[in-house]
Amino acid sequence: MQNQSEMLSVPQHIAIIMDGNGRWAKQRGLPRNAGHRQGAKVFETICDYCQKIGVKYVTAYAFSTENWKRPQNEVDAIMDLLRSYLKEAAKQVKRNVCLRFLGDRTPLAPDVQALIEQAERESAANTGITVCIALNYGGRAEIVHSARALAEKAAKGQLDPARIDEGMLAENLYSGGIPDPDLMIRPSGEKRLSNFLLWQLAYAEFVFLDVLWPDFTPADLDEAIRQFQLRNRRFGGI
Ligand code: IPE
Ligand code: IPE
Ligand code: MG
Repeated sequence: MQNQSEMLSVPQHIAIIMDGNGRWAKQRGLPRNAGHRQGAKVFETICDYCQKIGVKYVTAYAFSTENWKRPQNEVDAIMDLLRSYLKEAAKQVKRNVCLRFLGDRTPLAPDVQALIEQAERESAANTGITVCIALNYGGRAEIVHSARALAEKAAKGQLDPARIDEGMLAENLYSGGIPDPDLMIRPSGEKRLSNFLLWQLAYAEFVFLDVLWPDFTPADLDEAIRQFQLRNRRFGGI
């Protein structure tokens, strides 16, 4: 049973679909990439704020397996923003942030893959907030990835299929070892998951806000947390 203080506590893990960059730019007569640039700044501000208020994990959707359908120039611009972020990852490492990347990184440029590995390695021992960036991430692809890892062990005779349970499947997701999100926030007015954390969000509280991601402020995060705190999480109980 939850007591009052637990009910009003800050969520341990917040998942965010950073959406609305293109519409933000369009509203201003700017190229879509200007929206991504502003969105990347907001991402840093919100991560800093989450750390300040005691959130332990943030998972942000940065690029989906479906986003490759966009024009090459837009994909390149997003990857360049990621490069800039990773080149400054030392800043996060110093702030005790642990960085993780969720998704299939093999199709990414070799220099980006190397920067990701470096950021994860250098921040792995950090004990502050864990920031997970979902990149070339798809919820269905992630479940396939986990199922395949288990099937390979079973085929080698190292795992009895009858022993496969939810815990084992979860451990082999990209998010293995990270507790499920408590709160999922999607700004921009869209009310769908777009293939984000299909497994992990089974019992998360969803908050949809009309603000576009590049306009998202710590006050919007507070509002989402306020809505979260009013929810009664029953997890199937009474
Ligand atoms: C989110 O903003 C960023 C990515 C998907 C990479 P969008 O680019 O989807 O912005 P809208 O939805 O077109 O406004
Ligand atoms: C989801 O947003 C992916 C990210 C925010 C990275 P999209 O803009 O790609 O989602 P749809 O196309 O509106 O469903
Ligand atoms: Mg969008």
